[in-house]
Amino acid sequence: MTRGRFSPALISLFLLLAAWLPLLPLLRLGWPITGLIAMQGGLALLLSRWSGLPGWWQLINAFFSPLVWLVSHAGIHPLWFLAGFALLALTSLGSLKTRVPLYLSSQNAVAEVSRRIPASRARVLDLGCGLGGWLAGLNAARPDLSLAGVEMAPLNWLTSRLRLRGKAEIRLGSLWDEDLSKFDVVYAYLSPAPMAGLWEKIEREMRPGSLFISNTFAVPGREPDETVELHDLSHARLLIWRR
Ligand SMILES: C[S@@+](CC[C@H](N)C(=O)[O-])C[C@H]1O[C@@H](n2cnc3c(N)ncnc32)[C@H](O)[C@@H]1O
Repeated sequence: MTRGRFSPALISLFLLLAAWLPLLPLLRLGWPITGLIAMQGGLALLLSRWSGLPGWWQLINAFFSPLVWLVSHAGIHPLWFLAGFALLALTSLGSLKTRVPLYLSSQNAVAEVSRRIPASRARVLDLGCGLGGWLAGLNAARPDLSLAGVEMAPLNWLTSRLRLRGKAEIRLGSLWDEDLSKFDVVYAYLSPAPMAGLWEKIEREMRPGSLFISNTFAVPGREPDETVELHDLSHARLLIWRR
């Protein structure tokens, strides 16, 4: 299967539907739906493995139809689904365009960055600050720093803002509108999608002597000056460039 041209989410959806196709005639023959759902889960898992999807997409495909069936029989009020969708939209709808979902830095990422910022009063920016956890951790470890974050998802922004009141300046908006020349350290935990464009912005704006730190995601064709394994649950690492 051609990888790279299509996102794993799209491939996964396609395989999920494809796994139903051979089972539809059995449905018409009156086979019990629960048995067919179990067979569909198994087939979706096989197709996902064959196509080389990452492990967690394979699991999603294996359990998607069984979970939909279970939930639809659990007597849950429809408003809960609407609430779930609203929550997802307010935290993550923008990721359909930016291709940067919400996931959170570990405390190891805070500790490793914290000990690499020597100067007191250094200005630090988190590009896409999510729920503000990384900034909150940094503030606890290094109250001497001047912290800022920018976030485009409204609920994430509000959470960060309330959490960091008086401790960091949190702006609602796009990271592309930030002036990076104002900061000594810029931190980003994004995705592969924006990294090439972000590097161009960094080269244009960041001052000599400043640090750019990417959690996990590489800049195409630019080796970092330092790589730090974080030994956390997601096997993340920090990639550090000195300007
Ligand atoms: C992977 S999360 C990282 C959250 C936080 N920095 C941390 O390390 O815990 C990425 C965040 O970036 C935000 N984001 C993605 N693209 C953005 C953009 N163009 N401008 C501002 N925020 C963006 C997303 O909404 C998401 O909350």
